[in-house]
Amino acid sequence: MRENPDYNDLYYQNTTVHSQIIDILTKRAVSLSEFSLPIDWEACFGNPRPVEIEIGFGKGRFLLEASKRHPKVNYIGIERAQKYVELTRERFEKYMRHFGVDKTSGTFSNVRLAWTDANYFVTRYVPAESVQAYHIYFPDPWPKKRQRKRRIFRNQDFLAALTRTLRSDSGRLYIVTDYEEYFQEIQERLAGLSALHQAAADLSPDQDIATNFEMKYVLEGREIYRAVYEKVLP
Ligand SMILES: C[S@@+](CC[C@H](N)C(=O)[O-])C[C@H]1O[C@@H](n2cnc3c(N)ncnc32)[C@H](O)[C@@H]1O
Repeated sequence: MRENPDYNDLYYQNTTVHSQIIDILTKRAVSLSEFSLPIDWEACFGNPRPVEIEIGFGKGRFLLEASKRHPKVNYIGIERAQKYVELTRERFEKYMRHFGVDKTSGTFSNVRLAWTDANYFVTRYVPAESVQAYHIYFPDPWPKKRQRKRRIFRNQDFLAALTRTLRSDSGRLYIVTDYEEYFQEIQERLAGLSALHQAAADLSPDQDIATNFEMKYVLEGREIYRAVYEKVLP
C-alpha cells in the first residue's frame, strides 16, 4: 500500500495546480508559485507574529472565531475543496458586513486562506520550526477499508513535516474527531514520533469554539474525541 503521495500523479497535479493564498480583507489571491519556497511568513502577513495553521477548515467557523479572538496570531487555513474556500470567504464577508467591521480596523488582517492540498503545502511550503499550532478538526476518516490509505495521518511525509515545522518551544497539535477507530489509529501513529508527546486534552485554549462538524455531531449526541500533542526538545 502506498502511504505517501506521489506529487507527480494526476490527483496532485489537479489539486495543486490552482493552489493560491487568499487575503480575506483585500480578496487578493496569489498563486502559491509566486511565494518563496518555503514561505516567508513575515512577508506573507507583513509582521513577525506567531503562525497557526488549520487543516481542512470546511465552512470556516473555527478560523473566523479563533482569528477574531487572537488578533496577534496569524492564521493560515488550508482547504482543498474550492466550494468551502468560497463559502468561508463569504462567511468572513457576511460577518464584516453584519457587524460593520471596518476593513482598515485590522480585524481579520491576520487570516489567509490557502486553497490547496495540506499534504502538498505542509511538506513543501511551511518552514521548519515556524508553526505555533496545527488545528486538525474532524479530518476525513475515509471509513471504507480500501480508502483508508487516504487518511492524512497515514502519510509519513506529512507526519514528518508536521513535527519538523512545529516550533520546539511551544508547538502544539490539536486534534478533534468523532470517529473512534480513526482516533485510536491517530494516537498509535503519533506515539511512534519521538518529537511529539501527548498532553492533557483540555490544554486547548479554544476548545469552546466548535467547528461546523462538531456542532452537528454534538446535536446528534455523538461522542467527540480530543487530543493535544506538544513538540518536545530532543
Ligand atoms: C470532515 S470535514 C471537517 C471540516 C471542519 N474542520 C469542521 O470540523 O467542520 C474535512 C475537511 O477537510 C478537507 N480536507 C480533507 N483532506 C484535505 C487535504 N489533504 N488538504 C486540504 N483539505 C483537506 C475537506 O475538503 C473537508 O472540508
